[in-house]
Amino acid sequence: MKTIDELLAEGVTGKRVFVRADLNVPLSGTTITDDGRIRAVQPTVEKLAAAGARVIVASHLGRPKGAPDPAFSLAPAAARLGELIGADVAFATDTVGESARATVAALTDGRVAVIENLRFNPGETSKDDAERGAFADQLAELADVYVGDGFGAVHRKHASVFDLPARLPHAAGDLIATEVGVLKKLTENVERPYAVVLGGSKVSDKLGVIDHLLERADRILIGGGMAYTFLKAQGHEVGSSLLQEDQIPAVLEYLKRAEDKGVEFVLPVDVVVSEQFPDLKAKAPTEHRTVPADAIPAGFMGLDNGPETNKLYASKLADAVTVFWNGPMGVFEHPDYAEGTRAVAQALVDSEGFSVVGGGDSAAAVRILGFDENAFGHISTGGGASLEYLEGKTLPGLAALED
Ligand code: 3PG
Repeated sequence: MKTIDELLAEGVTGKRVFVRADLNVPLSGTTITDDGRIRAVQPTVEKLAAAGARVIVASHLGRPKGAPDPAFSLAPAAARLGELIGADVAFATDTVGESARATVAALTDGRVAVIENLRFNPGETSKDDAERGAFADQLAELADVYVGDGFGAVHRKHASVFDLPARLPHAAGDLIATEVGVLKKLTENVERPYAVVLGGSKVSDKLGVIDHLLERADRILIGGGMAYTFLKAQGHEVGSSLLQEDQIPAVLEYLKRAEDKGVEFVLPVDVVVSEQFPDLKAKAPTEHRTVPADAIPAGFMGLDNGPETNKLYASKLADAVTVFWNGPMGVFEHPDYAEGTRAVAQALVDSEGFSVVGGGDSAAAVRILGFDENAFGHISTGGGASLEYLEGKTLPGLAALED
């Protein structure tokens, strides 16, 4: 993989450099609620601009249906990038149309433009190689060089991630280089004890990674919505909690394998329950209580880990030398159900080991809960991407950057 510094050494002055970033940031209307992903690609953009490149930044945002949709416009992200780099950032209102061509043609050396959400074009995510290829051809016409730096999207076989680098000289940006370096520490010669905390709503999203980690981790701590399928598999009633009944056989198999291999599988011992899912906008106080994890009353749903679980998880993380965490422990967006997620984040901050927060919701959670990002070993910008890397899969966006 060519690094960005090697690319700079070859000279990029006056060249149109297409930077595939992941500016898929959470929005409330047009307000960005967590700009971590924009800040993560900022060094790459600045480095290229400082070297005199004409920088074209491109990304997806959300999951629009292959057509323009103002709710998913990248305009707020382009404005934020401009604030961060302290320079005007031009914005093209389409991806490969008149606006994009004119915006790129007007770029001068060292200036930056953002083009509109790549997923406004059906070719970006198409499963049809020819359709994706045709869109990649159009994108290739905008640029001379490609820099892959959208780590959060490298697990997607999309036109701008997979097909475009095959059409242009390419290099990996600094963000991708850092992310891959960190993930290697979690997969090769891992320092032990190695603890993994998995949360989030669906067990089915995590099966692959659990399967892989059972061969590698010393402890696996489970929280969030997915914990209730494990509790149910152990024969406990879970009331109206989130449940993936069809995953119970897989979960039972994992629990058995963990036992056979001596991997410690840790489940909540108490949970915070309520009869209703909270209103995440109003954030008004809710009726809730803490119950043992094996005594969730009928009609109540588990929404967070309880205080005993928080203590237990902190103790399991205290002496870990390597920790990977993906997925919140509860509905952290509401203050009544944020303690479990906060407790895991605090345990990682307190630990002297190397801690990695794996992207998506958990990365946003630590920032929204007010933790200092620098207190963690690494906060990944990729949720799905880091999980798929840990599953041992080949990621299309990384494979495409190999020479
Ligand atoms: C993410 O948020 O994980 C990345 O931006 C990828 O988004 P996607 O899951 O919509 O492809």
